[in-house]
Amino acid sequence: MTSSQGPRAHWSSRWAFFLVTVGSAVGLGNIWKFPYMTGSNGGSAFVLVYLACILIIGVPLLMAETLLGRRGQGNPVMTMRVLADEAGASRWWQVIGLIGIVGAFIILAFYSVVAGWVLEYTWRAGLGFAAQPKEAFADAFGALLASPGRLIFWHTVFMALTAAVVLGGVTSGIERANKIMMPALFGILVFLVAYGAIAADLPAAFRFLFHFDPSAINRGVLFSAMGHAFFTLSLGMGAIITYGSYLGREVSIPRTCLAIAAADTGVALLAGLSIFAIVFAQGLEPAAGPGLLLQTLPLAFSQMPGGHVVGLVFFVLVVFAAWTSAISLLEPGVTLLVERFDLGRKAAVLLLSTGIWLLGVAVALSFNEWSAFSLFGLGLFDLLDTLTTKIMMPLAGLLIALFTAWAMKRAHVEEEVGLRGGAFRLWFGVVRYVSPVAIVLIFLNVIGVIG
Ligand code: PFF
Ligand code: NA
Repeated sequence: MTSSQGPRAHWSSRWAFFLVTVGSAVGLGNIWKFPYMTGSNGGSAFVLVYLACILIIGVPLLMAETLLGRRGQGNPVMTMRVLADEAGASRWWQVIGLIGIVGAFIILAFYSVVAGWVLEYTWRAGLGFAAQPKEAFADAFGALLASPGRLIFWHTVFMALTAAVVLGGVTSGIERANKIMMPALFGILVFLVAYGAIAADLPAAFRFLFHFDPSAINRGVLFSAMGHAFFTLSLGMGAIITYGSYLGREVSIPRTCLAIAAADTGVALLAGLSIFAIVFAQGLEPAAGPGLLLQTLPLAFSQMPGGHVVGLVFFVLVVFAAWTSAISLLEPGVTLLVERFDLGRKAAVLLLSTGIWLLGVAVALSFNEWSAFSLFGLGLFDLLDTLTTKIMMPLAGLLIALFTAWAMKRAHVEEEVGLRGGAFRLWFGVVRYVSPVAIVLIFLNVIGVIG
């Protein structure tokens, strides 16, 4: 990171944007959420819709959001105001930035609690997972959820880690660590898939994830898979706008965004394969829900030779992946507070992370002391997840598509995104028509207006 290239600091190299954005994208969404959502939504039907959503909504919008960030050069709200003014459009478009900041606040609250689970399991991995009957692993996870003290302790540790990095500004530390940790994460997942081929049931995992069965697609699957495509690519929450604002002009947005989406999807599929290979070999329940990751891999670590080391390395890498994503959830709000309200960076970080921490404490308590609370039939955790992933993110995405392709001057978009001729027309057409229509259709379908 250097500040020599203009009013805003910019990434130190063309790799840096790629690395931090992969850091934001690759996280608990890939390793914890994707597998359990797939398991709870019938396997391949979910994967199929998810992949389609990545391709026709996710990648085009990732490009759009990045170009907004680079052109606007500010926090998400300011960027939208600058761009709206430039386009001669209403300042109401600032609402995109606002949805993002509020959404990121809510996501980080429950994200941090889940990252806390992973911290607890990193600790347990360090002690070594004892060989036990498979039921014991489910019970151990249940015991963690039942313990408010442990949940809150680890949630606090994780928020402190996140706040510490954001306090230091957009540091070269994040960039540098990503360069090592992301390839390492990829490598250990490949290893776990290989383990699945040798010691578990990889063919069954393949069938479960990729068996072509469009008849299994229903409303719930559509809605969940679309929401997850947004979640996994960090879309609509200000993270990409903020990171894009640090992006140098020489970088190709299309190529970088494609690579980011490919890396993100690759990690999710590898995680899914390794986890389901164990699920089917051990006769576990694919639809176990949010505990799936923590009830399957520890079981494998307890049985494989060298599992002690592999388990520890794996969980450390997952913590790191979650950490880099959490940083990208906190940074946009901090930039807003600093640039808009003239707050010092330190005060902004403390204020925001304390607020998020408090909501996270409520999430932690919702698994035990406050488990009786529910709204629309959802506990607090599911409520916040649904509100952000399935509603706020697609809504922000829809508005980003509409703004980019309908409100901005086409020549500006063309110049900024760096695509020419047919390639530009294809991408622009998708952002102008296909992505918004797809999002709206899925919404209408869920509300029950169509289908
Ligand atoms: N993309 C992250 C993951 O898959 O874990 C989660 C996330 C990060 C969502 C940043 C939204 C965001 F702005
Ligand atoms: Na992701």
